[in-house]
Amino acid sequence: EFKENTAIVVFGASGDLAKKKTFPALFGLFREGYLSKTTKIIGYARSKMTDEELRTRLIPFFKTTTEQSKTLVADFLQLVTYVSAPYDQPEGYQKLNSIIEKFDAERNVTESHRLYYLALPPSVFITVASNLKKYAHPGDKGLVRLIVEKPFGRDLKTSRELQRQLAPIWTEEELYRIDHYLGKEMVKNMLPFRFANNFLAACWNNNFVTSVQIAFKEQFGTEGRGGYFDSIGIIRDVMQNHLLQVLTLLLMERPRSADPEAVRDEKVRLLKCIKELDPKKVLLGQYTQSEDGTKPGYLDDATVDPKSKCVTFAAMCLEVDNERWEGVPIILRAGKALNASKVEIRVQFKGTTNGMYSEVSRNELVIRVQPDEAMYLKMNTKVPGIKNETTTTELDLSYKDRYKNFYIPEAYESLIRDCLHGDHSNFVRDDELEVSWKLFTPLLNFVEGDDAPMPLPYAYGSRGPNGLNQYLANNGYVYENHS
Ligand code: BG6
Repeated sequence: EFKENTAIVVFGASGDLAKKKTFPALFGLFREGYLSKTTKIIGYARSKMTDEELRTRLIPFFKTTTEQSKTLVADFLQLVTYVSAPYDQPEGYQKLNSIIEKFDAERNVTESHRLYYLALPPSVFITVASNLKKYAHPGDKGLVRLIVEKPFGRDLKTSRELQRQLAPIWTEEELYRIDHYLGKEMVKNMLPFRFANNFLAACWNNNFVTSVQIAFKEQFGTEGRGGYFDSIGIIRDVMQNHLLQVLTLLLMERPRSADPEAVRDEKVRLLKCIKELDPKKVLLGQYTQSEDGTKPGYLDDATVDPKSKCVTFAAMCLEVDNERWEGVPIILRAGKALNASKVEIRVQFKGTTNGMYSEVSRNELVIRVQPDEAMYLKMNTKVPGIKNETTTTELDLSYKDRYKNFYIPEAYESLIRDCLHGDHSNFVRDDELEVSWKLFTPLLNFVEGDDAPMPLPYAYGSRGPNGLNQYLANNGYVYENHS
């Protein structure tokens, strides 16, 4: 079976993503008993290093506290070896192939299953993908799965170009495009929450929901990585991918089955219903120095063009043109250097109709993706006691209280495991990518064009630009004293 006897090869093994995410996720799976001891893990990169040097380099990134976990780290590292080779020459891939063949022969298996994880910059992406196919594919002797990471292009044109080059080499069946938000526990909970709770079906529509908001907030700015961020911006960085994925799962229709393709079909169908966005109606911001002067503004970053109009905050209102959601504003909002680090969904319901409780607050469902996964519904109840007063309280499912002894995996752990099981549900399909770029490319062209407006300033550590509350209110969100 694929998941038992797999060679996992991490390309870009000496890079940031591999160190911070891929290897720690593989270790996490191993620690939790989800990675068999017959797995072989090979790091592959250009840097000259021995196996031992790679292992030593990885240790600080594993979260370990107890003596027992130190033994686990040692056991895990026994599985890890390293190949240093260029990306554009056949030799490295041939060597890799013979290492895997030897590993298969040692274990006496006839099938050669491989998971190739490309933790690589886009510039070498196609080179590696095509060399792998040529020199390190077992043909019909085994299965190969290829995990790839964003960016999948910069806009519709470049994304199509990438796909045009990739498609003849690797099939959609073999490709696993990661959007790590799809591996987060609360995001994975979206399908059971939506479709395993029938009471929701009655109110999950424009008869009862008045607005939906998906907010991404980070407390830190670009902190020296501005040079990289400057050509990306917050819209491309987290909205076109992560937030749009959350939106899709929140609003799509029920898939006809649990089959991964059925799930992805529904996602695409929903995406196609989102109306074209008017770029001029998007609230754009860029952070300036914090009020107390201790934190730098975006333009103070030495690696950033001092005239940069790069967007570090955006709020936009999308409309889903189908029978269920027509008329309901769907707000996406994301920013760096804000007052908190939080990802949250807020679904507001209509207020009560006239009558005895017409004055109470409206119901609001909050789904907190991070930190501290939680779901709570603001509802009105009688204040306990002799008087007939009402108050707004919360029906609260906080994971840290309810699921105290449960292990909540890191997003990457969850996704690598899905891939080992051949489950594509939580990976981005080619047509999904196409529709999401189609939606966002006009906005990106606008904010990056010659006539782009200067984004509105907001202080590092604030809630965002001044007009934010008004913007939310104009788009149907009733603000009730929360950050
Ligand atoms: C990445 C973005 O995709 O997601 C980063 O490139 C961002 O800029 C990160 O910080 C957020 O991920 P998480 O899991 O920390 O919410």
